[in-house]
Amino acid sequence: MKRYLFTTLPSNDLGLLTRSLPIARELRNRGHHITFCSPAMAPNRLLADAGFDNLHPAHPRNAPGPNSQMVTMNRRRNSMFAHVHDYQNRKTTVMSTRLFQAACVLLVVLLMWPALIFGQELKAIQLFEPQLDGGRPLMQVLKDRRSSRAFSPEKLPKQVLSNLLWAAFGINRPDSGKRTAPSAMNSQEIDIYVATADGLYLYDAKAHALKPILAEDIRALAGHQSFVKDAPVNLVYVADFSRMEKAKDEDKVLYSAAGTGFISQNVYLYCASEGLATVVRAYVDRPELAKVMGLRPDQRIILAQTVGYPRK
Ligand SMILES: Cc1cc2nc3c(=O)[nH]c(=O)nc-3n(C[C@H](O)[C@H](O)[C@H](O)COP(=O)(O)O)c2cc1C
Repeated sequence: MKRYLFTTLPSNDLGLLTRSLPIARELRNRGHHITFCSPAMAPNRLLADAGFDNLHPAHPRNAPGPNSQMVTMNRRRNSMFAHVHDYQNRKTTVMSTRLFQAACVLLVVLLMWPALIFGQELKAIQLFEPQLDGGRPLMQVLKDRRSSRAFSPEKLPKQVLSNLLWAAFGINRPDSGKRTAPSAMNSQEIDIYVATADGLYLYDAKAHALKPILAEDIRALAGHQSFVKDAPVNLVYVADFSRMEKAKDEDKVLYSAAGTGFISQNVYLYCASEGLATVVRAYVDRPELAKVMGLRPDQRIILAQTVGYPRK
């Protein structure tokens, strides 16, 4: 059980409160102790109806007694933090300043609360131009190509991710929009989704960019094997049958499986060239993953592929 204090400025404006009340209710339902400090009349009534405690702190400068002298002095000088000569008054001035600062901090936190609870917005990533002059000789890369299942959690640098996706299925002939892997009747039906710790993206080959799909780490659902959830990148190859109008229904699975194979081999070769670890995987709960990814019925997960630095 935790104790939460929700504060607002002492105003009858209910805007902030109507946003914070559902959060407070949810926290209370989860067994936490909630207190408000929103002393104006309208919020007070709302909070009483909702059954929350509402603190009504007496501001030290408004309290009767020796401090009232100070209020007059402050007003006269038109200064918020006037000098106070006796020790007691100095202490209350410091306290009220701290209370004010704490209220400001809490106000900022409350304004950001939806983002904190519902997750940060996932932004599009413009990838870097692929580095076309790198890489090891093809025959040596073929000698090293292999499946690996031990990954370091270290993130891939953006340039490496940019190269990897371009090698996988980027546009290598801008005039025609054709790609680094073949596809039956140039239907280009395979989409590459990229699951990372930050969220799920879709590789947009035309823009050479990652489009945000889901601000959630779904790596644990990208495969049954234990290394999948900790590796920095899991590619999910999804066939979009709506782009295969020219193919017969019985050929769609065959063609898209073949197309995925070419893309996956490009990834294998790039990884072998760059000293990255990778493994292509069929051992995936496809219906569950498709649900989380929000795929349509005519989008089919074909395979997934994990990529990362090898575990040392
Ligand atoms: C269609 C396909 C599905 C595969 N599925 C998995 C898988 O789910 N998990 C896994 O660890 N490896 C999987 N692999 C990788 C194979 O196990 C691997 O390629 C094979 O053992 C040969 O090893 P090599 O790739 O190092 O040559 C798959 C490979 C292919 C072609």
